[in-house]
Amino acid sequence: MAGELYRKPIMFAIVATVVILIGTIVTMFYPMFTEGMHPKLENLRPYTALQLAGKDIYMREGCNNCHTQTVRPLKTEVMRYGEYSKAGEFAYDRPFLWGSKRTGPDLARIGGKYPDAWHYQHFENPQAFFAQSNMPKYGWLKDRKLDPADSESHMKVNGFPYTAEDIGGLAAKSELDALVAYMQVIGTAVAKKAAPVAAAAAEERNPLEGDEKAHERGEVVYKQHCDACHGDDGKGGIGPSLTDTTWLNKEGDIGDGRIYEIIANGTPNGMPPYANQLDKDKIWSLVSYIRHEQHKNK
Ligand code: HEC
Ligand code: HEC
Repeated sequence: MAGELYRKPIMFAIVATVVILIGTIVTMFYPMFTEGMHPKLENLRPYTALQLAGKDIYMREGCNNCHTQTVRPLKTEVMRYGEYSKAGEFAYDRPFLWGSKRTGPDLARIGGKYPDAWHYQHFENPQAFFAQSNMPKYGWLKDRKLDPADSESHMKVNGFPYTAEDIGGLAAKSELDALVAYMQVIGTAVAKKAAPVAAAAAEERNPLEGDEKAHERGEVVYKQHCDACHGDDGKGGIGPSLTDTTWLNKEGDIGDGRIYEIIANGTPNGMPPYANQLDKDKIWSLVSYIRHEQHKNK
């Protein structure tokens, strides 16, 4: 039977086409029309004039030669960067900047990951944060004012409707302001997933209490992960001081377990979560270190 089909080229072509079409319908067209493939992004907004100007600078400086802006639906990527990219997120990206080379980390979920001040300092001197970073310094962008006429022509090409006020407002901003504003909006249309960690009970005591060396181990971890934001000896910087007794802007002390929880899960206002990078012992040693610095301060 099959042998006969091979001897009839026209019939064979027709059968082959039908079989391939069935495959295409099942794997391509059917998913295209199912709702699950098109999650609605309630938070998606067009770029503001400032954010769009920042995107232009990102393209001009070739940031996409070192950074991608798309998280693939692979477990390792989702663990490292966060929720994988959805098609709708790029609706206002003309052109999109997925990139194909990751000399630096993916930036698809960079928005809201750090406070603005972190970005200003990191652009000024990436090596102050990560000694081995090969990212160039971009501090000079702060001395260059945006050119509203230039931005306006880009917006016209893209067909984005901005008011004269929006565009005029750009004159007071630097290129660095625009770039930071752009960083902070990337990937924010998709809700962040809560850190997958059970928090210690707020009243739980530090199991390392009484361990004389715990704060020294904590200091090593602190220097690696925390002092870029909280300053030398926890004196404060981009993040608040850790040596006073004001916690998340409220006066008064809190339990060791609550400090553990802040470090493990982060906060919505700029403290990153560390539960995926640091084990329990390391986080408790940080609590010991913070308590040690507090006592020195009294
Ligand atoms: C030569 C490659 C290179 C270029 C060009 C480059 N970067 Fe980077 N970038 C890196 C590397 C490597 C890192 C990781 C180390 C670090 O944070 O400095 C990084 C880190 C970052 C981070 C922090 C990411 C995170 O999740 O912690 C941001 C934001 C960033 N770059 C933005 C930019 C922007 C915007 C530009 C263009 C103005 C740019 N980079 C140009 C290599 C580069
Ligand atoms: C990217 C900058 C950044 C890094 C890195 C960082 N933090 Fe924070 N941290 C913050 C910010 C910003 C806040 C204030 C958060 C808020 O108000 O919700 C904060 C708050 C805290 C608080 C609550 C302090 C208070 O006075 O309210 C603790 C404790 C803390 N961080 C510990 C740490 C530890 C330990 C590390 C290192 C493992 C670390 N942080 C790394 C930015 C950072």
